[in-house]
Amino acid sequence: MNAGNEIESILEEAQKVINGSKTETDLDNNKNIFIGKKGKLTAVLKNIGSLSIEEKKIFGQRANQAAEKIEEYVHKVRTSLKEEYYSVTLQTEKFDTTRPLKPEETGSLHPITKIQYEIEDIFTSMGFSIMDGPEVETDYNNFEALNFTGDHPARDMQDTFYTSDGNLLRTHTSAIQVRTLRELKPPFKIIAPGRVFRYEEVDASHENTFYQIEGMVVGKDISVSNLIYTMNVLLKEIFQKEVKVRLRPGYFPFVEPGFELDISCMVCDGSGCSVCKHSGWVELLPCGLIHPNVLKLAGIDPAEWTGFAFGLGLDRLVMMRYAINDIRFFHSGNLRFLKQSF
Ligand code: PHE
Repeated sequence: MNAGNEIESILEEAQKVINGSKTETDLDNNKNIFIGKKGKLTAVLKNIGSLSIEEKKIFGQRANQAAEKIEEYVHKVRTSLKEEYYSVTLQTEKFDTTRPLKPEETGSLHPITKIQYEIEDIFTSMGFSIMDGPEVETDYNNFEALNFTGDHPARDMQDTFYTSDGNLLRTHTSAIQVRTLRELKPPFKIIAPGRVFRYEEVDASHENTFYQIEGMVVGKDISVSNLIYTMNVLLKEIFQKEVKVRLRPGYFPFVEPGFELDISCMVCDGSGCSVCKHSGWVELLPCGLIHPNVLKLAGIDPAEWTGFAFGLGLDRLVMMRYAINDIRFFHSGNLRFLKQSF
């Protein structure tokens, strides 16, 4: 048989065999019989050493055309096998969108999100509205309007990320106080959850990105008693038991008087650990009565209206509730941490 005929007969055989493929694996195997490394066409090509240059050229061309043809057969069969497969599976396999998921198939809310929603529920049930604000803020909303005038030394309490255009990443949700005071007419009660940023050295109890919920009440004759009462309700609801608290004087330029509300450390039960820096107490909640200058700057008359404000750190609160001893877990993306049921 001359070389040309040999190719023709391989091609004929290939068409038959390939068309007879029942599955795609079958098809791949059949293709390899002809154009794989050890395929028949490949074998023929290996034996052309004795031909003249002219013959080699013609033979080579034919062999290439034959290989292309075989690829075409394969492609055709593959397409029809696929169509057949999908039309059969579409009819036999049903996807039940109402089937309940197995626990390992679901995602879940991050513990910080969960506690945020819970706190929102507690406050909305007491008549508070929820406010929002941007994460990139103006210097005015984050500092100036909160009585940190000019280069007030209290700015150093909050190491700040500045953007190149002179704005900043808000260092606290108190910026939303400012926005709210301008937007709403008193009396009002609001909370404002949000992500805040500080240029912190990261360790077991400090992160550069964390969460706060700001709270603010403005009305007639609002006093420290209203503040303490509200905080007690909140802590009792969150921890589902009476929580030991202490108030210390605290300084923030936008409250007067200002306090630090501490709770006894729930990770170590007050005996001292890395979270409470071995003091037994955790600073949970700075608060105070809104400074008259802050009201004035927002166009509210401090002779007529008073109010209190607080800033609740969500990360610490979650750490207390679940006895988590390292704040770095929250952003770690560690599934062993996240898969625990909170
Ligand atoms: N914004 C302050 C902080 O993050 C906390 C604060 C809020 C203090 C409200 C008093 C009143 O440090």
